[in-house]
Amino acid sequence: MYPVSASKPLVVLLSGPNLSLLGQRQPEIYGPEILAEHVVAATEEAHALGLAMEHHQSEHEGELVEQVHRARGRAAALVVNAGALTHYSWALHDALASFDGVVVELHLSNPAGREPFRHTSVVAPVADGTIAGFGGLGYRLAMVAVARRLGTGSR
Ligand code: DQA
Repeated sequence: MYPVSASKPLVVLLSGPNLSLLGQRQPEIYGPEILAEHVVAATEEAHALGLAMEHHQSEHEGELVEQVHRARGRAAALVVNAGALTHYSWALHDALASFDGVVVELHLSNPAGREPFRHTSVVAPVADGTIAGFGGLGYRLAMVAVARRLGTGSR
């Protein structure tokens, strides 16, 4: 469990491969905003809800697995946009299964309405829920979902 004495529960936001290219990468699908703008929105929302937040982005599966390990016992929740790793990373699945807190799967686009390979999520079975298809708003919605699950904040 995460430390109950922490004054503000910590949410760790994880961004997977190619999300570093947001703003340049298929803006007709992922929108015009860069990743830093989503992180600012998520941070603002988290703070308004009485949550602390930190963000890590990596192009590397193992680095994301390590970030999940680092969150164990320290963070109350993980919000994970794993990019394409969503669809095949059993290593990330197993790491998330070892995390004793709230897990929100997040996507800018709606993978269920896209190519068939995106219809499978190996993150979904170890997540409390999924937010997909709402573009950048999803980052704020994810923080609201975490706060509701943790019983913090009033929104
Ligand atoms: C994504 C959807 C994934 O299928 C894709 O590989 C991404 C981004 C999204 O946010 O919509 O990289 O996770």
